[in-house]
This record gives sequence, C-alpha cells and structure tokens, in this order.
Amino acid sequence: MTAILFGGDYNPEQWPEDVWHEDVRLMRDAGVNTATVGVFSWSSIEPTEGRFTFDWLDRAITLLHENGIGIILATPTASPPPWFSIAHPEALPTTAEGVRLIHGSRDTYNPAAPAYRAAAARITEELAARYGAHPALRGWHLHNEYGTVSFGAEVDARFRDWLERKYGSLGALNRAWHTTFWSQGYASWEQVVAPQATQYLRNPGQLLDFKRFSAALLLECYQDQIDIVRRLSPDAPVTTNFMLPSWLHYDPWAFASASDLVAVDHYVDARGVEGAAHAAFGADLARSFGGGRPWLLMEQAMNLTMRGGRLLAKEPGAGMRTSLQHVARGADGILFFQWRTAPAGAEAFHSTMVPHVGPDSRVFREVRELGQLLGALDGVASPLGSSTPAPVVTTRVAIAWSADAWWAADSPGLPAPDLDFLPAVRRVHRALWMLGRTADFVRLDDDLDRYDLVLVPSHCIASDAEAAALDGFVRGGGHAIVWYFSGTFDDELHVELGGYTGRFAETLGIRVEELHPLEDGESVALDTGTNGARWAETVRLRGAEATVRYADGPTCGEPAITVHRHGDGTARYVSTCLPDDALAALLEASLAEAGIEPDAPEAGDGLEVVRRSGADGTYVVAINHGATARTVTLHGVDAFDGSRVAGPIELAARAFRVLRAQ
Ligand code: GLA
Repeated sequence: MTAILFGGDYNPEQWPEDVWHEDVRLMRDAGVNTATVGVFSWSSIEPTEGRFTFDWLDRAITLLHENGIGIILATPTASPPPWFSIAHPEALPTTAEGVRLIHGSRDTYNPAAPAYRAAAARITEELAARYGAHPALRGWHLHNEYGTVSFGAEVDARFRDWLERKYGSLGALNRAWHTTFWSQGYASWEQVVAPQATQYLRNPGQLLDFKRFSAALLLECYQDQIDIVRRLSPDAPVTTNFMLPSWLHYDPWAFASASDLVAVDHYVDARGVEGAAHAAFGADLARSFGGGRPWLLMEQAMNLTMRGGRLLAKEPGAGMRTSLQHVARGADGILFFQWRTAPAGAEAFHSTMVPHVGPDSRVFREVRELGQLLGALDGVASPLGSSTPAPVVTTRVAIAWSADAWWAADSPGLPAPDLDFLPAVRRVHRALWMLGRTADFVRLDDDLDRYDLVLVPSHCIASDAEAAALDGFVRGGGHAIVWYFSGTFDDELHVELGGYTGRFAETLGIRVEELHPLEDGESVALDTGTNGARWAETVRLRGAEATVRYADGPTCGEPAITVHRHGDGTARYVSTCLPDDALAALLEASLAEAGIEPDAPEAGDGLEVVRRSGADGTYVVAINHGATARTVTLHGVDAFDGSRVAGPIELAARAFRVLRAQ
C-alpha cells in the first residue's frame, strides 16, 4: 500500500533546533508522512557565493528520516539571496517601466540572465549530488511557482533570438505584428524589443509573442534543473508547484509534459459552496494538466488565506472537506503551506498546520483528524510519479483550456473588457459542478474523442489545428457548445475576415456579422423570457437553426443561440452572456443530448459525488457542502468503519462519506 502524502512545506531554518524535535513529535502525532524542505532556503544553504552550509539541512533531514517522515526536496531558486543581487545586478528583474528591482522580497531574478541561470544550476547540482540518493527522498520540487517575467537588455536579446527562430525573416515578423499600423515597421532585428511601457496601447501581436516567449524562457529554466536532477537523482520523480490560475506566466500543458507528475498550489477564494466549487475547479485542472493521472496538492491552507488585503477565514471543517475533494478528483498528496506559522515575516498571518497559538487549537486538532482520514485511504494512492493508467476520474465532458486563449483575451484593444478567459471558463465549470457533473479540461488540438461534449467558452484565438480538431470532433458525432467571440483570431492574432468567430464558422453553420458589446448593467431580452447581458451579436444562419432569438435591443428578432447539425454531431453557438439558470438549462440539455448520465442523480447544488479509481479499486466520495441535509444514493463499503451502504442515505449538512465501490 502507498500512503497518500500528507504534510507541507517545512522550514526548519526559521526555528531553533529544539523546536524541530517538537515538530517531528507533532508530525508523527498528526500522521504527517512528508515534509517539503528547502523552498526559499537559498541564503541558509549558500550564505555567500559558492560557500555551502549543508550541516543544518543534513541534521533536519536526518531527524525527519529517523522519525519516518519522507522529504520532498525543493531547489531554493525562486529567491536568490542578497549577495546574488549585489554581485550580479544585471541578473535582477526589470519591470515594463524600466525599474530594476532588488532583493527584499522573493522571485527577484531575471530568468534570461546567464548569472542567474548559472547560480540556480550550481545550487541544484549541489543539492542533487548531496541528497539525490537519500533514503528519505520522495521527489523533487524544483523552484517555486515559476512566474517571474522580466524586461531589459538580456530579455530583449533572447526575445529577438526566439522571434528570429519563429519567423525566419523580419518581413514575416512585420506581417504577423501588422506593424504598418501606427508606424511600427522594423527595418532591422536590433530595433525589435520586448513590449515595455509606451505611450498608448501596446501592439497585441508583439505582446502575445512576448508572453509565449516568457513562458518558453521559464520552461527553459525548469528544464535546466530537470536535466541536473535526472542525471544525479534518477530514481526520484520531478515536479514543480504550479500556481493555479490567478495569473499565468507559462503554459501548464508544456510544464506538465516536462514533469514526472503534476503538482499544484490551490487556495480557495471563498467560503461554503462557492469555495467548494473553486476547489473542484483547481483539482480538475490539475488532473487534466497531468493527462488524467494522479497529482499532488503541493500547497493549500487550513484556515486564513492570503488574497491581497483581507485574509479569507475558512470555516471549521473546510480544510477536511477541501482535502477530500482533491483526493476524489485525483490527488495522491495533500500538503500545506506550511507546517508551522512563523512569528514574523511577510506571511506571518497566513494559516499553517501548527498555528501561532500552538497545537492546542481547533486547527491542529483538524490537522490530526485529517491525518487519520487520509491514513485510512491508503489504497487510493499509487507510487509517486508512476504511470498509473489514466484517467483516475472518468468524465465525458471537457472544457477547452489554452494558455494562448487566456493571453489573447488579455490583448489591448478588444471590444469589451469582460471577454476574459479565466472567469468564462470558471463559470462554465461552476455551472457543471452545480449540476453535479465533473469535467476535464482539454486542449482543442488534443484527442477529443475521449469526450462526448466539448465546451468552448472565451476561446478567442484558434490555430488551424484547433479549428480542424473541433470540426472533426463534431462531424464524428461529438457535441460542442461555443461561446461568443471564440475563434475570432488565427494564431497570429489576426481577425479571420468574413465574419467573427470565423475559425469555427463552418462548424457552427453561422456568420457573425456585427458585434454589440453592451453597456454595464444593460441587458437584452431573449424570446425564452430570460435576458442576455454584456454582449450581443448579429448572427446570420449558414446551415444552423436558431433555438433562441433576441426579443429586443439592436438584434431584435435575430438568432441568439443556434444549433448546427454537422456531420454526425451538433455544434451550438451562444452569442450573449446567459444568466446562471439559463446557462444551467443549456448545459443540461446538451448533456442529455450527448447521452451523458450523472454519476449520482441527486448530486448538484453543493452535493458533490465523485468516483475515483485508486490503486486498489474504485472509491466514491460524497460531500455535502451545503447547509441542509441531503439524500444521496450510494453503494459500497465505508472506507473508515467498514459498514455497508446500498441505497439512499442521508448526508448531514457539511458531512461526507467515502466508500469503496464493490
Ligand atoms: C504560494 C507560495 C507560498 C506561500 C503561499 C501563501 O503558494 O508558494 O510560498 O507564499 O502562496 O501565500
């Protein structure tokens, strides 16, 4: 049996050694089996350039190991020490306004600077050589939340190289960025720079390419470390903790392919049912990025969570329910930031497993309870990074997810400020979750045949391959829903002429003639009796039929929602932003049309039921996130008390059951 990893970031360098002994005692007491060490430890490991002080880390790792606690070893490269910025000022990050930053926080480095890359490689090499075969080592956590973007001379030089490789000629670059607009034609490569602060709107093509380039640069930094660690520590799986979306500085699909398994940090941003919907969103993304295989929740919070100004205080029991949601959706590890709350520093009020008040606390009692709970689910997890046959959760519904679509939707000069990718995708996922359905995320140019229903919200850019794949999917009998403005640009961010949404126009059987961004608070009536908001369009039918029409406004009488029977499948188009109930009804109708049955008919509205295959069988996790009791029909043997369940049971408010299916 493989245990589910349970524990969190552990920073013994922040504490006197007598506290370490209390730490391991409490860890054992709570069932903690894994500590992530070394994240941000650079100045404690290499206090001056080239002088390494591993003695404290040796003692900490030995103590953990002697107490049966494994380690995930991090490389500390997300936070170079002060000596680094003094010795290598050219390797500091520069903002788009040209301000050079200096140490004093974290992530203060320039990923394009050779001195940074060399220093990061050196400390990675030292760590891998010293601990790469340590018996306590479970895996590698390279860097922390890759995400630093810099400008400056080194970046400009690397950006130009990347562009030369991509375009081959300056003429091709000028065409792609449409530089005849506003006198931006480049006459030599030396004139090309990263899109920095300038007078008015920046060139959208240049900006999109810079995001792609910066993402490739971060992947290169990650790959530097992967190569070193795989050479010196070939048996330990390699990962890095993805920061789940609030910002996006790299392509998670590319990072996932470079990793042995996916690990994510996910902090829910609300209490109650909305927080649970957010946790499910993060978990489904993590599983999908990893191709359906098990993944690790590398960081989450038991209680107070940073989110700008006011910290989010989680309700009692939320840590337990969120953790179970993640296990249900494929996590083989439940880890926290961090083990013990520090008395000082920038995150002294972010919650941990051992709060400021100590173990005699509600939070630590829940940590202990969570340890017992996960300990009873030993049969779920597979050995870390093993190629367990995917997927651990099966669903026939997928939502299109692409870094390019996110970046393109952030372009300057779009017709409305609310065409953003993340809110649109999250809203569709939330609507499915409220209907009790689990979804995968998928790249449109991936294998869509695993799905019966593919949902495409806010996907304004589409490559030839993506457009062809969606078309093939529908022709082959699949069902799709595409939302407004999707497919408007090709992958050079040029509008497809002849009709908006043009990349998908043939699949959808429509021609979008005019865009009507609505004013804040404005709505348009639909002939179903409901209203659309934010956006409307003049949609002409070219093979599709109108299922809903506008009943007032600039497009009164014209199609609002269409369906195209195309090949053996159907493609629907939604040209306005629907309210929650109409969105739910549309999804329900499409799920029914695609013949997708729910896992549990009572699930939805905050009652979550997920079937997950584990190493030793299938588990059914049912969680009632709501404030009133719910009835749910389940079959199996309770994973904790061995009782048999066969039929409807009552699940109290905020209660859960985990059954082993028989
Ligand atoms: C991130 C980081 C952690 C910590 C937490 C809490 O996920 O990786 O080091 O800063 O957020 O804010």
